[in-house]
Amino acid sequence: MSATEMAATNLSVDLAPRHPRRLKLSNPVMIASGTLGYDGYGRGLTPEMDLSRLGAVIPKTVTRQPREGNPEPRWYPDSFRVAREQGEPVLLNAIGLTNPGIETALSDLAPQWAAGDATVLLSLSADSVDQFGEMAKMTGGVAGFAGIELNLSCPNVEQGDLFSYSAKATAQAVAAVKDYAETPVLVKLAPNVPDIIPIAQAAVGAGADALTISNTIPAMTIDVETRRPVLGNITGGLSGPGLHPVAVALVYRTAQALKGTSAEVPIIGVGGIFTAQDALEFILAGATAVQVGSANLADLWAPFKILEEMEIFLGERGITDIKELIGAVEV
Ligand SMILES: Cc1cc2nc3c(=O)[nH]c(=O)nc-3n(C[C@H](O)[C@H](O)[C@H](O)COP(=O)(O)O)c2cc1C
Repeated sequence: MSATEMAATNLSVDLAPRHPRRLKLSNPVMIASGTLGYDGYGRGLTPEMDLSRLGAVIPKTVTRQPREGNPEPRWYPDSFRVAREQGEPVLLNAIGLTNPGIETALSDLAPQWAAGDATVLLSLSADSVDQFGEMAKMTGGVAGFAGIELNLSCPNVEQGDLFSYSAKATAQAVAAVKDYAETPVLVKLAPNVPDIIPIAQAAVGAGADALTISNTIPAMTIDVETRRPVLGNITGGLSGPGLHPVAVALVYRTAQALKGTSAEVPIIGVGGIFTAQDALEFILAGATAVQVGSANLADLWAPFKILEEMEIFLGERGITDIKELIGAVEV
């Protein structure tokens, strides 16, 4: 049986059932911010990689001003592809939000997204609540993206810590964006917090249409011969296989806590998805959709392969609608 013959499985999902515009995706497989091609904006993708076949893609986070990023090396290991082939579970990066700034993103990139057929979400980070509002305001009337994802793993310069470490700062950032955003807003949370539930609830209370769980975990590796950290930035973010079970547990706990409450919104699971099984774990844990990150950097075809494997897996088991599996883990 080919994947086409088994197209009977309905893979469509809606990430913003509460928003008047909705955010309907043809399937739940998305590309995570920072991993759309090698530079996060599509470098290395070929025309055969038809992004419109995926649920959605999220180009790399943009900030108010352009950013150069961190000193090299920015990756550990140098090649995620070799790391994957060798079964290395530790993947670190410290890119430092290299990006052209929101003005260029809206004037130069958004028209390209609008001209294509893919569903694109715009990822934003800011260093203050007011700047989040200012950036959201700038997106008004601009075409090319069907939603906004807030990357809250960025320092709030007024309070010191990352927005996503605090329920209050999270709520303030979300509210500032919701005042202006015309599209649905996904809020991407950090995994390394004592309790993600009050932060998730605060995000939804402030208007988040969906939650993305999660970003990377702060991490460090030291070369014992040179006694130097392997990353130019000293520390970076852990992604990939090591993050996967952590993120699945966070999705599960959050989905359980929000279920049946006024804060129940779709959750998007992210962390170490390399196979359809990895993706389906998130969906069984309570995610409505998933994002593939590091796997793209090992193989730019990864999300397409994962989608195809998912169709086959579900077709072979006679599952007619992916929604049957959302939160269907049996405990
Ligand atoms: C090289 C690289 C760059 C990233 N850049 C961003 C970014 O700009 N914005 C963001 O929200 N997340 C960024 N992330 C985090 C990913 O979107 C994702 O949350 C994380 O890597 C976990 O998923 P994974 O294990 O599938 O990679 C980046 C990750 C990697 C590996």
